[in-house]
Amino acid sequence: MTAHISYRTLSGTSRLAGVMGWPVSHSKSPRLHGYWLAKYGIDGSYMPLPVAPENFADALKSLKNLGFSGVNVTIPHKEVTLAQCDQLSDRAKRIGAVNTVTFSEDGLILGDNTDGFGFIENLRQNAPDSAFASGPAVVLGAGGACRAILVALLDEGCPEIRLTNRTRKRAEDLARELDDPRIKVVDWPLSADALDQASLVVNTTSLGMVGQPELAIDLDGLPKTALVTDIVYAPLMTGLLCQARDRGNPVVDGLGMLLHQARPGFERWFGIDPEVTAELREFVIYSK
Ligand code: ATR
Repeated sequence: MTAHISYRTLSGTSRLAGVMGWPVSHSKSPRLHGYWLAKYGIDGSYMPLPVAPENFADALKSLKNLGFSGVNVTIPHKEVTLAQCDQLSDRAKRIGAVNTVTFSEDGLILGDNTDGFGFIENLRQNAPDSAFASGPAVVLGAGGACRAILVALLDEGCPEIRLTNRTRKRAEDLARELDDPRIKVVDWPLSADALDQASLVVNTTSLGMVGQPELAIDLDGLPKTALVTDIVYAPLMTGLLCQARDRGNPVVDGLGMLLHQARPGFERWFGIDPEVTAELREFVIYSK
């Protein structure tokens, strides 16, 4: 009797992709894309690719020459990738960073940034009844992760963005670079005052993350209809989200942003716009 073995092999025409980072061992992307490859029965592979900064440009060209369909790039390569691309999407230019690279059939390196897309799609999926972009948004933090969110909110038609950061100058620099009068910089100690009439509150700081202090903000002035979200997803329910939920506000955690930002790359490389489901969330949450 032959034992039944369930396995998957690659063929000579497998499509290849991966994530370049340094380090890359923490990345959830291989598990995420691996789940979709198995779910849709695709002949392909998505690999973790640890690449040191000094090797990045050569490695990217090599992947193109090896016939890869494309790659995600993560810390610390997101900004330097801009200069390595032959063509950039408008949003990658405005965000000033690339997270999704596609190698075109005519040999070009195409750079895109899907972080803002992931941010908006997460809110659409998990708070479908919220008019989160119809009123002022309060954005806390002005680090690397903030930029894609600002660009996405501007493109979504958000009428006003109140941007507040511990280091005010960083918020001012960001507002100047994005050059949109809808972005108004607010002093960090006055964050709570900025909640008046807001439709959306977004934490883009690292506060609330495992091992970091909680974000301390008094939500008393926030309308109960305002959506509150966090880009931190470890823990899923940050102190900010718990506080907002307990007073009756709709909340959306940050994990969905990670899942949705992966969709455009998967579709370009493997040919299917994959679904973000509760089962996928569980699968990624419990991955080591
Ligand atoms: P990333 O690129 O991942 O966003 P970052 O550029 O270091 O990381 O940004 C971290 C964000 O969290 C910044 O907005 C930072 O504020 P500063 O610009 O003032 O550093 C914010 N942040 C981190 N620790 C903070 C703290 N204890 N209080 C307030 N803001 C904090």
